[in-house]
Amino acid sequence: MAKFITLEGIEGSGKTTNLRIISRILKDKKIKYIETKEPGGSLLGKKLRKFLLDPKTKISSEAELLLMLADRKNHVEELIIPSLQRDTWVISDRFMDSSYAYQGGGRKININTIKSFTKFLNFPKPDLTLLFDLPVKLALERAKIRSQLDRFEKEEVKFHNRIRKVYLDLAKKNKGRIKIIDASKDIKSVSAKVTEEINNLFNGKT
Ligand code: TYD
Repeated sequence: MAKFITLEGIEGSGKTTNLRIISRILKDKKIKYIETKEPGGSLLGKKLRKFLLDPKTKISSEAELLLMLADRKNHVEELIIPSLQRDTWVISDRFMDSSYAYQGGGRKININTIKSFTKFLNFPKPDLTLLFDLPVKLALERAKIRSQLDRFEKEEVKFHNRIRKVYLDLAKKNKGRIKIIDASKDIKSVSAKVTEEINNLFNGKT
């Protein structure tokens, strides 16, 4: 059966580079898969992404959460579920854990409020979530080198520390699904760990 894999982490944690590694493994195994991302995985999402990441956007935390969830609902219905039903694997750069970490941790919205929305919207649970974890200072240095900072990347260090903490809490509570990858290591060690976790999925260890 097709699997649903999500990648999570703070800014500059290397999700995108590692998505390519996963992609290569699946290609080598001749598995049908798609790569996608949030926000922006649906038609509606492309517009929402531009608006949400624009540093000029002024928006309340609650409205920000609702837009992320609206994007996700569309993404799930338009792309994720139909792909899995066609026996196509889905790798998504961010999913529900991002809303807990960013809107719950970063923006301090009550986690139980977010949980009740998740239930209401009936989102699927990923088979595997890789959490790329590293100290905020190091991650932000990497993000700065990469490109101009977006609305989230421009937030203070404390905001990112709160996000990291929620991610680590989620990993503790969902040990079967969420695997922590130490992203402060060099790319070779990180990709070896990613490869190991993906192989575990095939061997039924996850
Ligand atoms: P990101 O995935 O980091 O994209 P890129 O690597 O191309 O810059 O950008 C998406 C931003 O959206 C990121 O800062 C996290 C934020 N976000 C939330 O705040 N909540 C969510 O539910 C999701 C999916 C993303």
